[in-house]
Amino acid sequence: MRIAMIGAGYVGLVSGACFAEFGVDVCVVDTDAAKVEALRAGRIPIYEPGLDKLVEENARDGRLRFTTDTAEAIRNADAVFLAVGTPTRRGDGHADLTYVFAAAEGVAKAAERSIVLVTKSTVPVGTGRKIKEIVRRVRPDLEIEVASNPEFLREGSAIPDFMRPDRVVIGADSDRAFQVLRRLYRPLYLIETPILQTGLETAELIKYAANAFLATKITFINEMADLCEAVGADVHDVARGMGLDGRIGRKFLHPGPGYGGSCFPKDTLALARTAQDAGRPVRLVETTIAINDERKAAMADRVIAALGGDASGKTIAVLGLTFKPETDDMRDAPSLVILPKLAAAGATLRAYDPQPGHARQVLPGGMHFAVSPMEAVEGADAVVLLTEWNEFRALSPEKLRSAMRGRVALDLRNAWDPQSFREAGFEYQSIGRP
Ligand code: UDX
Ligand code: UDX
Repeated sequence: MRIAMIGAGYVGLVSGACFAEFGVDVCVVDTDAAKVEALRAGRIPIYEPGLDKLVEENARDGRLRFTTDTAEAIRNADAVFLAVGTPTRRGDGHADLTYVFAAAEGVAKAAERSIVLVTKSTVPVGTGRKIKEIVRRVRPDLEIEVASNPEFLREGSAIPDFMRPDRVVIGADSDRAFQVLRRLYRPLYLIETPILQTGLETAELIKYAANAFLATKITFINEMADLCEAVGADVHDVARGMGLDGRIGRKFLHPGPGYGGSCFPKDTLALARTAQDAGRPVRLVETTIAINDERKAAMADRVIAALGGDASGKTIAVLGLTFKPETDDMRDAPSLVILPKLAAAGATLRAYDPQPGHARQVLPGGMHFAVSPMEAVEGADAVVLLTEWNEFRALSPEKLRSAMRGRVALDLRNAWDPQSFREAGFEYQSIGRP
């Protein structure tokens, strides 16, 4: 089979490489010529474990190609996937569908026969119907089918999430679209992955509902962590006690500084807007958004309080900047709220992240970017663990302490051991633990 993947971002690149691994002939299109050149030269513009090897092998075997030419890419394609960005529109929180509609129109214009056009990008409910109108207007001469096939990829584990998904969701109006997509996902039959066939709007809503529910689950345990601190309980045991109930499940009950990333913040906001527009506001999701935004800011206040209420003239070392480990993605990372607040409070910031990606462009100027955790903490009055990269878990409290000027440690991911930090002389604070 042959497909075209429009968009070589986190979603398009991973999906394209994985389909190629399934034996499908894949052509990835991107409007960013520099990105296409880099990919052709084997340079991967994003950090995703295993992606460079997967791209290199499939490109070498001729099953994975990159181009800026949509017409070339979609020629003889059984299906064309839209995986362009759907960022939050500045100002009103709606998903910005400019790129999706532009890509759909571009595909329709270039189509030489009836194709199946599949949205893999996360798009608000009703977008598939609008895409159908666009392609019908642009190409009344063709029967272009529109389908929805949302992705459930987590950054940092996107390839295993694609290869062994909990389910494949397909939304469409016609059997033809279902047949093409079932054939594409045939390799997953071997591991009996459930394939859910449903309508367009339902498939679009499943993606938002799943992400909003996960964001709400995280926000719930974050609030339980705050309550644990007030009543002297341990949030990890609360999470374990809850999670052993099969109806709740153990995943996504880790307290932290608030969720970030390119999905939860964007998708919760888009769902809230869709619901408001439909006259059925989802107040639980709206509250999750508000609590999460406040939490990130409150984390900065915790750091300042741990420094005696005044951060001016203090040096703070921050370990971890990305929104989660195993990614270089800074989109909506808690660090983007916490660090500017600390800088505004007069602190001098030193930070280290194993995959700083484009952190320099999006964080306050004047910060020192260290090349190692030990360099970051040199002379610092406080050390804050913000992203739970594995390498931070092994850091020696004694070594940290001897490199620092002060003795405040804030562990916002509960990745360190309280006792060994206290024995090393730290005033150690974490979240949701006595
Ligand atoms: C994004 C959202 O994060 C995700 O929720 C949604 O499911 C898909 O879009 P991501 O892969 O992270 O996923 O997007 P991004 O990293 O912004 O990459 C989009 C790619 O599409 C970029 O490389 C961009 O150059 C390209 N693009 C954009 C096109 O090829 N054509 C366009 O018209 C616009
Ligand atoms: C998420 C969804 O998991 C995925 O299914 C969807 O396709 C895209 O959005 P992603 O945003 O890449 O994936 O990362 P995820 O691992 O879900 O973490 C999202 C945020 O929640 C991160 O900031 C993470 O630190 C936070 N988180 C996650 C917690 O604070 N606690 C948890 O228990 C889990």
